[in-house]
Amino acid sequence: MTASSLSRPVRKAVLPVAGLGTRLLPATKAIPKEMVTIVDRPALEWVIEEAREAGIKHFVFVTGRGKQAIEDHFDRAFELEETLQRRGKTAVLERLKAALPAPGATSFTRQQAPLGLGHAVWCAREIVGDEPFAVLLPDMLVRGRPGCLKQMMDIYARTGGNLIAVDEVPAAEVHRYGAVALGERHETGAMRITGMVEKPAPGTEPSNWIISGRYILQPEIFDVLGHTQPGAGGEIQITDAMQALLKTQPFWAVRYEGEVHDTGTAAGFVRANIAFAMDDPELAEELESYMRALVQRS
Ligand code: G1P
Repeated sequence: MTASSLSRPVRKAVLPVAGLGTRLLPATKAIPKEMVTIVDRPALEWVIEEAREAGIKHFVFVTGRGKQAIEDHFDRAFELEETLQRRGKTAVLERLKAALPAPGATSFTRQQAPLGLGHAVWCAREIVGDEPFAVLLPDMLVRGRPGCLKQMMDIYARTGGNLIAVDEVPAAEVHRYGAVALGERHETGAMRITGMVEKPAPGTEPSNWIISGRYILQPEIFDVLGHTQPGAGGEIQITDAMQALLKTQPFWAVRYEGEVHDTGTAAGFVRANIAFAMDDPELAEELESYMRALVQRS
């Protein structure tokens, strides 16, 4: 395999959205967890925005039962649009249109059984085909300027290969995530990944650097995933497949500028709402004085 074949453009993104969202019950009993609102739009829309900013042209959603709202959200709603038009609500109409991917730029496939994140990504293999692609885990909302995936794309243009966004967390939290071992530093600032482990047992963590839900992967990962046995939690793990591909392809860790919020937990979800609201000048001032008053009172 030549180096140039590992640096072809990344046009497609895979969004695994089949999960049940049990960590956010009861909010997610009747609506997909990806559709839970962060400030003024579904969590998933923030992630799609991040991917579009990075130049992604095609969005592959790996869905499951009960996720119809996602498909509807990224489609036109003629009746609604017509009503808004008639009422002269042009600003919100424009806002809805701007958030819509181009016609034909979305694909939906189903993960037929909850066999793990690696299996979900593998379900996208026919649609992605033989080209590099991004994976964005919508639970992880990353606030960055530019967005995390755009920062990764800029580095990918110089490194090629496979890239993973990483975050440093306290040692006691590493076991909840996938973690990486780091080696040499590239001139872009990316660090060579020398090993990966999913949900390391306390005391066996390779470092405090965890996989934070953004990946750029070469298509060879699909072959590896097709043979990957269940790992942590009895599920087919993308981390195990990446660890296997590490023998033949380079992996780089990107320590991006920004912060990540795990919206799958109540605290992370509330934090994401505050952080993203504070980016909105119309909300920031009121919110700040309210939070100051609240803290003083308590
Ligand atoms: C998944 C990945 C893990 C990563 C995490 C980030 O785990 O397998 O490597 O650190 O997302 O949220 P999950 O959250 O599905 O258990």
